[in-house]
Amino acid sequence: MEQKSSSNFKLGIMSGGQLGKMLTQVASVFDIQVYIMDKTKEAPAAQICHSFFQGDQTNFDDVYNFGKKVNLLTFEIEHINIEALRKLKQEGTTIYPDPETLYTIKDKGLQKEFYRNNNIPTSEFSIYENKVKILNTLKKDAISYPFVQKLRKEGYDGKGVAVIKNENDLVKLMNAPSIIEKAVNIEKELSVIVARNPSGEIKCFPLVEMVFNAEANLVEQLICPAEVTPIIEQECNKIAIKVAKAFNLVGLLAVELFLDKEGNISVNESAPRTHNSGHHTIEANITSQYEQQLRAIFDWPLGETTILSPAVMLNVLGEPNYQGEVKFEGLEKILKIPGVKPHIYGKKITKPFRKMGHITILGETIEEAKEKAEKVKNTLKVKA
Ligand SMILES: Nc1ncnc2c1ncn2[C@@H]1O[C@H](COP(=O)(O)OP(=O)(O)OP(=O)(O)O)[C@@H](O)[C@H]1O
Ligand SMILES: [Mg+2]
Repeated sequence: MEQKSSSNFKLGIMSGGQLGKMLTQVASVFDIQVYIMDKTKEAPAAQICHSFFQGDQTNFDDVYNFGKKVNLLTFEIEHINIEALRKLKQEGTTIYPDPETLYTIKDKGLQKEFYRNNNIPTSEFSIYENKVKILNTLKKDAISYPFVQKLRKEGYDGKGVAVIKNENDLVKLMNAPSIIEKAVNIEKELSVIVARNPSGEIKCFPLVEMVFNAEANLVEQLICPAEVTPIIEQECNKIAIKVAKAFNLVGLLAVELFLDKEGNISVNESAPRTHNSGHHTIEANITSQYEQQLRAIFDWPLGETTILSPAVMLNVLGEPNYQGEVKFEGLEKILKIPGVKPHIYGKKITKPFRKMGHITILGETIEEAKEKAEKVKNTLKVKA
């Protein structure tokens, strides 16, 4: 690889969503050229990158040709053509995280098998080809309620996940290759973002608590530091590090965990990239998750992850009944509140529950940040 901290070094990011945009912003601090490929030139990162290429990340030729233009390739999404990444790697392109890590993670069936094979705690599961096979197994009483069905591939933001509490919920079953998981009696959903560089240095970000919007089935609010005992935090870090090492990770891995009502911790899923649960690190930690990803993939020393301030992060979601050109109502009002830091992603069109931005809210204490977050939530509305 060429000298990395020079303006000639080309970092390729697949693709150009909000995570790619925030990674691009940090890359510019280090004077690194960023090449972005995305399906649409309206993508958030397309506006600010050095060079933009229009292409479909699931298409072999598009991914391969893009990969050939850069010195180092990384990604901000999972649904990428793996065959193209494998060929690029074979021909000498550095790709972090490794395409094989991505291959395992992007299929929830393989991902769960990976945890099982590596003795990483995760809820019991089995794999099904289609809905009929699930229904047949149910008839034999071999699956018990409540359970969770997840599509093996291409689910995101809770799309592709169905929680089946009883027979009445069976209408929600999806007809596609999927896993059936035992439902966890969740006390808290937690996340650890762990970074590892090629030299083997590993660092975790402080534990984050994710609060769910049940209607949208996605994270609405995130709290850091998580309100759990130090023992639980240590256990979560231990598990996250074990997962990262098992993957021989280079880059960032966000490990989503469940703490159940009995105090057991298990892995829900992992993402080999920057993550929604790390947005607050831009303002609230010494090093942001975006800077950490760059440090990791460039084999630089990893940054300090210490918290500078307690923080709440709110996802700014499109209001349920609006679709069309986006308008943010109440932005000026929330800017009057000290410690409120909005990030608008630049998506032109709002849709119900679409992630249009996020807001980090800093407070002297987590209680203070939560109070301000409540005001922000009631004031800022995304409409069309
Ligand atoms: N085994 C389970 N038991 C109980 N609830 C679950 C289980 N698996 C998932 N859920 C709930 O569904 C949510 C979404 O599941 P998951 O994280 O696997 O899907 P996803 O679409 O990949 O999510 P995202 O992109 O939002 O991270 C979880 O955060 C959790 O609230
Ligand atoms: Mg998830």
